[in-house]
Amino acid sequence: MTARFITFEGIDGSGKSTQARRLGDALPNAILTREPGGSTGAEEIRRLLVEGEPDRWSAETELLLFTAARRDHLEKTIRPALERGITVISDRFADSTRVYQGATRGDLRSKVDALHSLMIEREPDLTILIDMDPKTALQRGLARSSGEDRFEDMGLEFQQALRTGFLDLAKQDPARWRVIDGNRSIEDVWRSVQAAVL
Ligand SMILES: Nc1ncnc2c1ncn2[C@@H]1O[C@H](COP(=O)(O)OP(=O)(O)OP(=O)(O)O)[C@@H](O)[C@H]1O
Ligand SMILES: [Mg+2]
Repeated sequence: MTARFITFEGIDGSGKSTQARRLGDALPNAILTREPGGSTGAEEIRRLLVEGEPDRWSAETELLLFTAARRDHLEKTIRPALERGITVISDRFADSTRVYQGATRGDLRSKVDALHSLMIEREPDLTILIDMDPKTALQRGLARSSGEDRFEDMGLEFQQALRTGFLDLAKQDPARWRVIDGNRSIEDVWRSVQAAVL
């Protein structure tokens, strides 16, 4: 079987990590990774991004940090695994940047796209969008109080803009995306994830 690059996307608390973990356990020859992070250097950058005050970085600086982390993740984790025939499952990837930095915080989308084609290029083979009501998702996310709440702390309106942004991306490239209804039990969502991957 060919190694695939599969990503999970969706708003905060939609169930990405839960489902990505399940898929990682179910596929025989796969690694599970995440963004921001997924390599030693990128995990160090992650702390700068997900902790602290919501206005800690300008949207532009944030975009550069995400791109630096993604480049390291790609060089050290994603590419080496795919080259060895191992499927890579990533909990978030470039689409999160397109939406978080591109669509919601000043109109940075052209800079997001320029940096992506300059430094990253690679797109996933399959992207699973777990779509759901931001109100329920936000309650799930904040209930964990992980100390990594910088984006959750930006509020409900922000999460609503993110949801729209993800759905727009999925509509633009239906061959790569599968949209799954996340407003259901973990088991029901998992059945849809399995169907999408198979
Ligand atoms: N379908 C579901 N129904 C109810 N609770 C769920 C469901 N899926 C996940 N959860 C719970 O909701 C919380 C958030 O789920 P999870 O961490 O998987 O979301 P996430 O999309 O990875 O969030 P974040 O973007 O903040 O990392 C967790 O406590 C998880 O156990
Ligand atoms: Mg998560």
